[in-house]
Amino acid sequence: MILVTGGAGYIGSHFILHLIRSNIEFIFIDSFINSSPKIIQKLKLIKNSRINYLKGDVRNVKFLKQVFSNYNISSVVHFAGLKSVKESFEKPSEYFTTNVSGTINIIKAMEIANVKKIIFSSSATVYNVTQTLPWKESGELDFSGSPYAQTKIMSEKILEQAALANPGWSVGILRYFNPIGSDKLGLIGENIIKESTNLIPSLVNVLLGRKKYLDVYGADFKTADGSGIRDYIHIDDLINGHIKAHSYINRHPGYNIWNLGTGKGYSVFEVIKEFETAANCKIPIKIRKRRKGDLAKFWADVKKARDELDFIAKKELNEMIKDVINFTNNISK
Ligand code: NAD
Ligand code: WQD
Repeated sequence: MILVTGGAGYIGSHFILHLIRSNIEFIFIDSFINSSPKIIQKLKLIKNSRINYLKGDVRNVKFLKQVFSNYNISSVVHFAGLKSVKESFEKPSEYFTTNVSGTINIIKAMEIANVKKIIFSSSATVYNVTQTLPWKESGELDFSGSPYAQTKIMSEKILEQAALANPGWSVGILRYFNPIGSDKLGLIGENIIKESTNLIPSLVNVLLGRKKYLDVYGADFKTADGSGIRDYIHIDDLINGHIKAHSYINRHPGYNIWNLGTGKGYSVFEVIKEFETAANCKIPIKIRKRRKGDLAKFWADVKKARDELDFIAKKELNEMIKDVINFTNNISK
């Protein structure tokens, strides 16, 4: 069976949904620090089948050892972690213990249990931003980025050493660009709180009346409309990338990195326009100065994932945003 860490979170729960729909055996673990056990009922509404899960923390070595000795784990998909760039500057040690020590603990438990396959959630934030677009997996990394970015680079490097040291290991690093959207049914999605700072949660907060307007961080970038451009990828495509990567690591030992993006960029104003169309509303905005460290534009080089995994993200921005609205309508009920 597959061990999924962070299975109650935004991306993890969509991966679990895929496992349920495909009748693949799994157990997930989560501390529920940024999610809720209520996800179980929601998943059961979609398909009523057994959901194996345990509440627990990846910082707890004893807990992890128990999980590996009590269940017949064949591979790990490791989503558990803290993910806010902003918060990582405020609480760096929390980020290093959860994201880096958590990953080391998983590796140790895998070594003891002789489990050799793992997929790891990394991020486009690891890249050195001075390189040319599109960003390739072989591109330079930025070791002086946010504490969050550093936790992802460190985890990647530690996993690379584990793959070198342990014969037969297979590690798949997935560097996500900007995942957004929800499963079609709109029952599961991101934990959106008033304090969320990413673009989609901020738009949702405006729609729900929790915020009066959207701050647009920079309208003076060197882009066609002046706002920042990002590579947004629909969560369904992102999950499909995991399925392909998981299948690949089952067949090939070694260490591999793949970008998961569409290879295309959309601006903040384009996202707002789609959002207004899908929600049939007007989003009030205020133009603010750029956020510290924000880039004008970046998107993924998708060639490696296409050639090696046969992975191509298919969904366009309008579909991503429609599914965001669909999920929002359900959380606001
Ligand atoms: P999320 O916060 O929704 O999910 C993470 C899950 O991990 C949550 O359910 C949380 O409760 C759990 N968790 C946190 N600390 C834990 C701990 N110590 N022990 C056990 N469980 C713990 O985040 P997400 O968006 O689903 O992200 C999943 C992974 O993907 C993270 O590692 C994140 O860094 C990475 N990632 C996310 C994005 C994004 O934009 N969402 C982009 C790039 C990379
Ligand atoms: C997107 C665009 C903002 C909010 C971050 C992490 C990255 C990854 C995804 C985890 C930018 C603009 C945003 C708002 C705005 N997460 N914006 N008003 O910064 O590309 O990436 O999340 O790994 O690592 O760095 O995403 O959604 O915050 O911003 O104008 O209220 O929207 O300036 O151009 P970002 P984002």
